[in-house]
Amino acid sequence: MGLLDGKVVVVTGGGTGIGRAVSLGCAAAGASVVVSDYGVSVDGRHPSSEPANAVVKEIESRGGRAVAFAESIATMAGGEAVVDLALTKFGDLHGVVCCAGILRERMIFNMSEEEWDAVVQVHLKGHFTVWRPATRHMREKRRGCLIGFTSTAGLEGSPGQPNYSAAKEGIVGLMRSTALAMAKYGVRANVISPEALTRMTERVPEQRRGQILAPPEGVAPVAAFLVSDRAAHITGQIVHVRGNQVAVWSQPAPLRTATRADGWTPDALAEVWDDQLGQDRLRRLDRLGIPWPPPAAAP
Ligand SMILES: NC(=O)c1ccc[n+]([C@@H]2O[C@H](COP(=O)([O-])OP(=O)(O)OC[C@H]3O[C@@H](n4cnc5c(N)ncnc54)[C@H](O)[C@@H]3O)[C@@H](O)[C@H]2O)c1
Repeated sequence: MGLLDGKVVVVTGGGTGIGRAVSLGCAAAGASVVVSDYGVSVDGRHPSSEPANAVVKEIESRGGRAVAFAESIATMAGGEAVVDLALTKFGDLHGVVCCAGILRERMIFNMSEEEWDAVVQVHLKGHFTVWRPATRHMREKRRGCLIGFTSTAGLEGSPGQPNYSAAKEGIVGLMRSTALAMAKYGVRANVISPEALTRMTERVPEQRRGQILAPPEGVAPVAAFLVSDRAAHITGQIVHVRGNQVAVWSQPAPLRTATRADGWTPDALAEVWDDQLGQDRLRRLDRLGIPWPPPAAAP
């Protein structure tokens, strides 16, 4: 008996990297898998049906069940179509795992509108396009699991990726909203924040990454577990996966609070800010060696 026997799972970005590992892992656990992949380069160009077809062949050669979907999920029509395919081909939908992604890196002051839109559309909108039709089905069935993909580039920030950081943090907000909205129907939403060696990360110099990355196969068991009924009580979580290490991240909450009976003025805030509120230091400032506060300007 596999953990996902009888389940139907859509995996976007399922043809390469982490998505490929998740597709193969869910199929090995018994699921029928819709391998959704537009087959584009890391920057989102030159679509091909080859990656999705190759993963379907690999699953079938191991005795599993899969179907390819090679259109983009960055449009509402694409999201509707991939959910329709799961329902027509396999008759149901239990899990959606959104691994599709592209990168267009640039500092904020140089980024074009097109670079911004392309990345936000594939990552953030590319979750909504699939989750909307998926939640309609899951709400009726009163069960199901959505898994988004975030990143420490969103959770902690990344200086050369304003579009990607914003989309990845946006996915966390979408996940929390969806987890709250769908709780009463027994439908769950969580996000995975992975760190794995794929074509997306291999171009980042090891020095900048600060660590040697593990293969993407380590992420697959976490996705398969979260989709399964063994995780039926788990929702609203950020799960970080790196190699053999799995971590659950905290929920944002107030750190320190200040109250003033007469209300605040800018001057009153200036008086008490450092003592009563202070700052929660950006974790990546020190890791990236960014000096803050800046060295005092020369006289
Ligand atoms: N690799 C890491 O360490 C890492 C770290 C943090 C977050 N992530 C996230 O994990 C996910 C998977 O990343 P990866 O490293 O496997 O990248 P990858 O480049 O290997 O795979 C991404 C896949 O998404 C597909 N894709 C792109 N646009 C699409 C679209 N419009 N419709 C359908 N498919 C599309 C691509 O064809 C590709 O197969 C991404 O969301 C990424 O942002 C990865």
